[in-house]
Amino acid sequence: MALNGTLQERIEHFFAQGAEAVGNKDAEAAFLELRTALEAGTLRSAEPNASLPLGWRVNAWVKRGILLGFRLGQLAEMGCGESLSFVDKATYPARRFSASDGVRVVPGGSSVRAGAYVSKGVVVMPPAYVNVGAYVDEGTMVDSHALVGSCAQIGKRVHLSAAAQIGGVLEPVNASPVIIEDDCLVGGNTGVYEGTVVRQRAVLAAGTILTRGTPVYDLVKGEVYKASDESPLVIPEGAVVVPGSRSVTKGKGQEWGLSVTTPVIVKYRDEKTALSSALEDLLR
Ligand SMILES: CC(C)(COP(=O)(O)OP(=O)(O)OC[C@H]1O[C@@H](n2cnc3c(N)ncnc32)[C@H](O)[C@@H]1OP(=O)(O)O)[C@@H](O)C(=O)NCCC(=O)NCCS
Repeated sequence: MALNGTLQERIEHFFAQGAEAVGNKDAEAAFLELRTALEAGTLRSAEPNASLPLGWRVNAWVKRGILLGFRLGQLAEMGCGESLSFVDKATYPARRFSASDGVRVVPGGSSVRAGAYVSKGVVVMPPAYVNVGAYVDEGTMVDSHALVGSCAQIGKRVHLSAAAQIGGVLEPVNASPVIIEDDCLVGGNTGVYEGTVVRQRAVLAAGTILTRGTPVYDLVKGEVYKASDESPLVIPEGAVVVPGSRSVTKGKGQEWGLSVTTPVIVKYRDEKTALSSALEDLLR
């Protein structure tokens, strides 16, 4: 019986039970084990796997476990003192950190949800939100008004600038989350959604928006990158992407002289980019 099986077997078992699992102590125990492993970074909703075409494997069962947590959780009142009160699923309170975790969470309205992994050396500036299943690796800066959506995978030494929005992907469970690999700079007011993968060292200039439906024009290599049925949008390693526009070439759009916004790869990282994107080491 699944009750004595591996964590994956127990999660799959209780997830398949639907509403029947609510109130079941074994289901809660399995979920809490999953949540603890997510927070420790030993289990991830998606992880690097060089043998797969995208270089990442999605652990659909882990996402089912996260969804199980929402199903099992009753609404509970939370908060501190009399001034701040919140109501959320009891299974997903805000995470508590201690100095030994090595993560700085500056006071002022930031929240890291239970079930998120945040590595040592990460700085979270207020207000910012890190959702369940997210994985934020060493030395990354999550600046003010940034969102790290559910299951998003953020690499080492990434700078998520002010108001950068990294979309969450919980469902469908086999959908690849947004992935930002090591040493990327995600500029202010950018948006990366719908499973987009940003390869190592890429730079997204302020204001760039990437989705499944966004074609990206590479002026250096003369190629156009798009998501397909099999693959999300993938931004190549070291690409410098800026917000651009292109003319509408048919129909009313052409007649009216309209253009639509489109991200453009203007170059690949060079020394000048390194200067423009230098991180504030002193702040860390
Ligand atoms: C992308 C960025 C890092 C500049 O990189 P860079 O390597 O120094 O780029 P360059 O200045 O060499 O510019 C290369 C080309 O892209 C264009 N370009 C650069 N940044 C651009 C932008 N944000 N939007 C549109 N075009 C841009 C330049 O005009 C230049 O075009 P040209 O060759 O036709 O003259 C910078 O523009 C940026 O967006 N930084 C992030 C700022 C930010 O969000 N800070 C957050 C603080 S919390």
